[in-house]
Amino acid sequence: MGRTIVLLLLIALCPGIGLVRSARIECLVAGDATAARDRPARGSELEMPGHLVESRRNCNVVDYGAKGNGEDFDTAAMQEAIDDCACWGGGGRVHVPPGNYLTATLFLRSNIELYVERGATIYGSPAQSDYPASSSRWYVLLAEGVHNVQITGGGTVDGQADKFVVREDPKKNVMVSWNTTGDCAGDECRPRLIGFLDSTNFQLRDLYLHQPAYWCLHIVRCNEVLVENVTIYGDFNTPNNDGIDIEDTNNTRIVGCHIDTGDDAICPKTYAGPLYNLTVTDCWIRTKSSAVKFGSATFHDFHGLRFERLTIKDSHRGLAFQLRDGGSISDVVFANIEMSTRYYHPSWWGRAEPIYMTACPRDSETVVGSISDVHFINISSTSENGVFISGSAGSILTGVVFQNVSLNFTNADGVDTETFHDYRPGCRGLVPHASSGLFMEYASNLTFRDVTLRWAPNVKWDTPFEFTPKTVGRLNILNVLSDTDSHGLPV
Ligand SMILES: *[C@@H]1O[C@H](CO)[C@@H](O)[C@H](O)[C@H]1NC(C)=O
Ligand SMILES: *[C@@H]1O[C@H](CO)[C@@H](O)[C@H](O)[C@H]1NC(C)=O
Ligand SMILES: *[C@@H]1O[C@H](CO)[C@@H](O)[C@H](O)[C@H]1NC(C)=O
Ligand SMILES: *[C@@H]1O[C@H](CO)[C@@H](O)[C@H](O)[C@H]1NC(C)=O
Ligand SMILES: *[C@@H]1O[C@H](CO)[C@@H](O)[C@H](O)[C@H]1NC(C)=O
Ligand SMILES: *[C@@H]1O[C@H](CO)[C@@H](O)[C@H](O)[C@H]1NC(C)=O
Ligand SMILES: *[C@@H]1O[C@H](CO)[C@@H](O)[C@H](O)[C@H]1NC(C)=O
Ligand SMILES: *[C@@H]1O[C@H](CO)[C@@H](O)[C@H](O)[C@H]1NC(C)=O
Repeated sequence: MGRTIVLLLLIALCPGIGLVRSARIECLVAGDATAARDRPARGSELEMPGHLVESRRNCNVVDYGAKGNGEDFDTAAMQEAIDDCACWGGGGRVHVPPGNYLTATLFLRSNIELYVERGATIYGSPAQSDYPASSSRWYVLLAEGVHNVQITGGGTVDGQADKFVVREDPKKNVMVSWNTTGDCAGDECRPRLIGFLDSTNFQLRDLYLHQPAYWCLHIVRCNEVLVENVTIYGDFNTPNNDGIDIEDTNNTRIVGCHIDTGDDAICPKTYAGPLYNLTVTDCWIRTKSSAVKFGSATFHDFHGLRFERLTIKDSHRGLAFQLRDGGSISDVVFANIEMSTRYYHPSWWGRAEPIYMTACPRDSETVVGSISDVHFINISSTSENGVFISGSAGSILTGVVFQNVSLNFTNADGVDTETFHDYRPGCRGLVPHASSGLFMEYASNLTFRDVTLRWAPNVKWDTPFEFTPKTVGRLNILNVLSDTDSHGLPV
């Protein structure tokens, strides 16, 4: 009896429900059911091919009162459009037509497609008061515990990072930090652009993500994620504007993206759970940090990662592992990658290493995990530093394979990069040490097959391999060519 009443009540509160069970739940989650009943419905029905939903509503934010003039806040109208659309039986499309929409945090709901049309830009507010109280929820677009969501349309989401710059500096900009009130301390207290937390089955396609004030796209504890044809631009001098951070998440595909940022471009991390099955294909990357970086948060395992057909341009570090905690990394393939790395400035992570693998304890309390079964296939790089492969006494790297790898060493602007081995964060810090083509320590079962090392004449170091038998065992070297441009020996 009681149960029947509750059900009828729910149907009465939310027009269009009663078709799909999950939609009914969404209306409650949206917390907006009463408002939906009291309003005349403003969305119109939209017929869609039925693979995701049967019939969907089309909710144009302008019909809900959004002005799109770039000056007045459109938060209320846009949120109402999102909530109303989500409340409809099969969900629907929230249409953001051309215009400039200034907004506080918008909360995305299940079963909606946020369609940011080409010519439309959603601008995140630069004021702390426009974001939720907890800094863990500081995002311009925030999806928490949702499913079946898409963000598409060819338009732009802009974090207005330029409004967070206190002082421009060609080495590294000095930024605002919202650290005087609330729960954030330090100099990195700024809002991220888009967050998906505890969500499943969502897509971001055909979008331009511009000037995040902090990390750009943050995917946390999710499953079944597609990021396709997304262009990310963050100022080269702005700190912490990571491209895509994938955290404790399974089954993510990143396809055909273009990422140009100051901080790390693609950054898998684990804090509270493992990360399985991440594939990144056909992407272009430039960064003043690492193009791909594992960690440094590595508290749980990483397994089944593929990086294929990437072009990495003028980055501070190419393919990087910073294993510092108890998780382990295994079954990783990098294939068909062309890259160039160069040295910028010590205020940024990286020293122009094309491949950088480190596994060492963050601090004296840590029992560090391991790295094994990592393949580099069909890689061609031009770099200002050598490959750095470094385990530690408690974490021997195993099963690392280089197959058809061509390493060119250059010195583009005459800056010496060779004077340090970089073990940071933690571990042994920065240690004075000359560079070599392939440096190895605390590693076993390494294979180098069909590898070419080639030095341009202006490079001041030229040691091809460096290792000691005390810390390196089982080294398989087959068909390795080491050469310089200068002496003209026959091949
Ligand atoms: C707050 O951020 C500023 C600017 O980055 C920084 O200089 C300062 O040390 C930070 N203060 C605290 C308490 O974290
Ligand atoms: C990629 O997205 C852009 C808009 O950001 C769009 O103009 C372009 O057509 C998309 N490309 C493909 C192949 O869909
Ligand atoms: C990812 O998969 C692992 C292994 O099945 C599981 O333990 C973990 O909870 C999954 N994570 C998420 C966010 O679903
Ligand atoms: C990872 O992908 C494999 C192959 O598609 C699949 O069998 C496995 O269930 C996936 N793991 C998780 C945790 O989803
Ligand atoms: C080696 O890799 C290069 C790309 O770096 C590719 O063009 C070439 O076909 C590969 N060769 C073989 C034998 O796989
Ligand atoms: C490496 O390149 C060769 C030649 O182009 C290709 O046949 C092979 O499939 C590539 N290997 C991988 C793992 O992609
Ligand atoms: C060496 O590493 C390769 C590649 O990961 C692996 O297939 C092989 O089983 C390893 N060999 C030993 C003896 O561990
Ligand atoms: C590597 O250097 C050689 C000689 O300088 C050059 O011919 C070749 O094109 C370079 N390869 C790449 C991938 O830049």
